[in-house]
Amino acid sequence: MSAAKGMLDGKSALVTGAGSGIGRATALAFAREGAWVAAADQTLEAAQGTVAAIEAQGGQAVAIACDVTDDAAVEAMVAAAVAAFGGLDCAFNNAGIAPHQVNATGVLAADLAEASWQRLLDVNLTGVWRCLRHEVAQMRKQGGGAIVNTASIAGLRGLPGAAGYVVGKHGVVGLTKAAAIDHAAENIRVNAVCPGYIETPMTEESMRRRGDKIIARTALGRFGQPGEIAEAVVWLCSDRASFVTGSNWTVDGGYSAI
Ligand SMILES: NC(=O)c1ccc[n+]([C@@H]2O[C@H](COP(=O)([O-])OP(=O)(O)OC[C@H]3O[C@@H](n4cnc5c(N)ncnc54)[C@H](O)[C@@H]3O)[C@@H](O)[C@H]2O)c1
Repeated sequence: MSAAKGMLDGKSALVTGAGSGIGRATALAFAREGAWVAAADQTLEAAQGTVAAIEAQGGQAVAIACDVTDDAAVEAMVAAAVAAFGGLDCAFNNAGIAPHQVNATGVLAADLAEASWQRLLDVNLTGVWRCLRHEVAQMRKQGGGAIVNTASIAGLRGLPGAAGYVVGKHGVVGLTKAAAIDHAAENIRVNAVCPGYIETPMTEESMRRRGDKIIARTALGRFGQPGEIAEAVVWLCSDRASFVTGSNWTVDGGYSAI
């Protein structure tokens, strides 16, 4: 019997927000499937923690410090990934922040402080676009690649008291569609994942406040785990998804089916 082949054998993959939650789980899943992983986060220590976990499971990875609100840092991040692994086949643009990280929990749309609005859009939407543009610049040189952006169920529907987050994530869904069309002829596929409520540091606070309500309206009756998002991202980045582009994949335990 031949050795099991990984879905991403021989590919290089970049993950932003790789130091925690969904990003860390996806970096680990990429490595498990045979990819070399560039793990980027705003602090080097967080990215290094993920690299250590990948190395502990026998994978290869490098840690990169990158704040996605800094375009020069994003350009340098892509260059560092390419320098480490000789190219860039897959990219997961996942770094993001929640309303509570900009003092906007439960704030009504018209009452948002402009600084909160700006910060949510700068990280969650423009940050994804900055990454995408530098990744596309590399992928078009190589003849193609696959990009996945992290949107949210908040990119498909409204949620109360989360206007800046909802707007940014709807923007990610729109960017995913637009970029998929624009770069299809360059053999670059662009998709998004739309997670429901996933157990990560980002959601600790909302789980404490209204976890029971969230679970009650989730068809599967529980929160999701970061690794359950990672599985969708791995597949979208793999050649098995060769005819999938411009799509937004809901992974929410049935939250939006109700
Ligand atoms: N957890 C959920 O329920 C859920 C649901 C839907 C969407 N999402 C999205 O999934 C993504 C990951 O979230 P998570 O739940 O894993 O959260 P998390 O807080 O565990 O991880 C987010 C990571 O992004 C990094 N980050 C934040 N701002 C950054 C910046 N400016 N530059 C670079 N890195 C930055 C953080 O350092 C952190 O490591 C986010 O885009 C989030 O909006 C999460």
